[in-house]
Amino acid sequence: MNILLVGSGGREHALAWKIAQSPLVRRLVCAPGNPGIAKHAELRPDLKVTDADGLTALAREMKADLVVVGPESALEVGLADRLAAAGIPCFGPSARAARLETSKAFAKGFLERWEIPTAGFGVYEKLSEARDALKVFKPPYVIKADGLAAGKGVAISPDRKDAEAEIVRMLDGRFGKAGARVVIEEFMAGEEGSLFALCDGTRAVLFGGAQDHKRAFDGDLGPNTGGMGAYSPAPVFTPELVEEVERRIVRPTVAGMAREGTPFRGVLFAGLMATDEGPKVVEFNARFGDPECQVLMMRLADDLVPYMVACARGDLSRLPPPEFRPQACVCVVLAAQGYPDSPLEGSIIRGAGRDFGPHVQVFHAGTRRDEKGLLVAAGGRVLNVCALGDDVRQARDRAYEAIKSIDWPGGFHRADIAWRALERDAGD
Ligand code: AMP
Ligand code: GLY
Repeated sequence: MNILLVGSGGREHALAWKIAQSPLVRRLVCAPGNPGIAKHAELRPDLKVTDADGLTALAREMKADLVVVGPESALEVGLADRLAAAGIPCFGPSARAARLETSKAFAKGFLERWEIPTAGFGVYEKLSEARDALKVFKPPYVIKADGLAAGKGVAISPDRKDAEAEIVRMLDGRFGKAGARVVIEEFMAGEEGSLFALCDGTRAVLFGGAQDHKRAFDGDLGPNTGGMGAYSPAPVFTPELVEEVERRIVRPTVAGMAREGTPFRGVLFAGLMATDEGPKVVEFNARFGDPECQVLMMRLADDLVPYMVACARGDLSRLPPPEFRPQACVCVVLAAQGYPDSPLEGSIIRGAGRDFGPHVQVFHAGTRRDEKGLLVAAGGRVLNVCALGDDVRQARDRAYEAIKSIDWPGGFHRADIAWRALERDAGD
């Protein structure tokens, strides 16, 4: 098979690493890719992930049997729709189905229509209406920009004054078009987790859970980020909770999307809160999480390619449920100093390419080669150090041991990835 993979982050490096291991694959091209992905795929650095014309032309030219879309920005511009029109199978939903992620107002309305558990909410375009609504909600106030804001369009405000200031900022265009509407939500207390399901338009197969660390600094402090580390399996996902999520959230979502004429094909990422009243949806994403994908790919025992093809073709039922290794995986994100506000660009990284042994993989996210061929930072999140272990503790120790031999003064990382799982163990 010829496969085109779209994206350039750590998620796509992990996907490329896994896809390249498939005996079904003859040629793998990644657009635009990154220096780490270059080990597994031919790169097309000239193509942007939002260049739906260019990517569709490339898929045609290379006679792609499958296109795998990593990031939401490519889904939002309708890459999957363009490929469908060209008759090319795509792992990733249409722009209309991707609204589960690209419009929080759509997602909340959908959840309400199909009675899927989530926080109570309202959607507002006018400041005066939003201000009035704050009188009805109780603190802390959860304020969200409607559209894509790279994980940074959410504010949790302790009091009404702060909430109003956030609403003003969002409606004032802090997130461009994304903030033209704001969503105000009830605050949900509980532990968060990310659960993934492969979907073929009518069916869904669970694809494992993970826990992310959204805050920049140790102790879950500092600004929200795209994710500073992840681990899987996450103890928050007890078998009972997973069963409830499948029954009350995943299946009704896939069925509802099909009934509304926007069948969901690809991977559904449910960001969940385990509340006292059961699991509730915090948000949906229409793609793999980053860095959650990295830990899932490390743990996946089966070949990924047949599952992606089945999602694209609509025949997931012919495959058995995917198998995962019983081992745990921990991923620690190395970010450039200054991330998430103003990451330092261009610092030299040494030692990332060495052989870390059979349990460790270092995936590249924002990296590039400079004129001398040296690896340098070229983004906020730069490297993902992932390790497998017999349990979370061993996986975590191996990841931090590997980090010691990466020489990168321009970077930082959290030292407490997987703390929740380790604390639970200690409490047992
Ligand atoms: P989102 O982009 O919607 O995932 O929100 C980012 C983060 O804000 C989530 O991962 C949660 O930690 C937090 N959050 C969002 N909505 C709520 C809510 N209704 N209650 C509590 N926390 C929330
Ligand atoms: N790690 C969270 C996300 O990919 O949105």
